[in-house]
Amino acid sequence: MRLERLEVVEFRNHDGAAVEFPAGVSVLVGPNGAGKTNLLEAIGYLATLGSHRVGQDAALIRAGAASAVIRAAVQRAGRRLLVDVELRPGSGVRGRVNGAPVPRARDLLGVVRATVFAPEDLGLVRGDPEERRRFLDTLATQRLPRYHSSRQDYDRVLRQRNTLLRSAAGRLPASALATLEVWDEKLAMAGAEIWSERLRLVAALTPRVELAYQRLAGRDDLVEIAYVSSVAGTVGLDPDPAKLAQALRERLVADRSREVERGITLSGPHRDDLALALRDLPARTHASHGEAWSLALALRLGSHRLLAEEGEEPVLLMDDVFAELDRQRRDRVAEAALAAEQTIVTAAVPEELPGELNAAVFHVEPGSVQLSAGP
Ligand SMILES: Nc1ncnc2c1ncn2[C@@H]1O[C@H](COP(=O)(O)OP(=O)(O)OP(=O)(O)O)[C@@H](O)[C@H]1O
Ligand SMILES: [Mg+2]
Repeated sequence: MRLERLEVVEFRNHDGAAVEFPAGVSVLVGPNGAGKTNLLEAIGYLATLGSHRVGQDAALIRAGAASAVIRAAVQRAGRRLLVDVELRPGSGVRGRVNGAPVPRARDLLGVVRATVFAPEDLGLVRGDPEERRRFLDTLATQRLPRYHSSRQDYDRVLRQRNTLLRSAAGRLPASALATLEVWDEKLAMAGAEIWSERLRLVAALTPRVELAYQRLAGRDDLVEIAYVSSVAGTVGLDPDPAKLAQALRERLVADRSREVERGITLSGPHRDDLALALRDLPARTHASHGEAWSLALALRLGSHRLLAEEGEEPVLLMDDVFAELDRQRRDRVAEAALAAEQTIVTAAVPEELPGELNAAVFHVEPGSVQLSAGP
């Protein structure tokens, strides 16, 4: 997939800006606060219907403006598609493809494909399990847009089950037991779907992330990635949803009294994690800064390869990626950037950019993005 044009209106610090991107590598340069990351964020938003930086859309709308618009023209399999979204606080997102409104915003998922690497991704290695779950869920949705509704179904069932457990206040009356059993079954079914898809995803992702990391590091460091289930630990499970649903069911029965006492659902995909290790040491606590950065980047580059092999190659977006890396790793990132069909990177300091990066350079200011002859 190629992003030909991006236009933003009242988005973050841009009142209006438009850029025509070539194939290959483009670099957005400009001083701190110019609005470089904001442009990558806008592209990422079209791909995932969310920001990689904030959970709420309100921050994306230019201060004082009533709504924001992101528009893009993409080439996919020889076809040109125009996509736009309008963000309005309180009334959600309105999307259009080739000018025709889509019934639900989520119908836009899959039209624009992007891999976003940003400094926030350090949290994939250092942060809480929630960040790694979000990584898996966002990627699973990009692979398979219907995963998005499976995830929403699971969250809804989980909320309702938790409400019931809370209302039991430590003692479950016999009359409520039958209701709880109904929710157990729904949770097992919805949970197994999420769990299964994540297991398949991790299996497909693992060799690609290992390879990406080893390329970045320039040596064969052992990289381990394991899905850690709150029900079954890291044992290699069959991703068959029927078997996973059974494991979840059994766990819910075993945990019933504890769950009633605590008033929450103690296990299931909402409590799972992805374990990452480098040379046999847990990366969260042991990796150096540059290693953690490289591992986060490898997770993104591995995701990018996976999506590219399974469908239209996403546009590769890398925000401030060069800043934290040694010389050799910078050169390897430049190779990855050049290998993708289309890459857009940002840099505040053009001197950080490796020399071999043959790129179109755009100078970014609020409201204007100019192609310049040199950085
Ligand atoms: N909703 C908003 N309305 C107006 N301005 C905003 C909004 N959200 C962010 N900004 C402004 O956008 C600027 C940040 O833009 P951005 O993060 O894209 O900068 P950058 O060019 O990537 O800088 P750096 O090199 O520091 O990463 C900040 O000055 C911030 O105040
Ligand atoms: Mg930035």
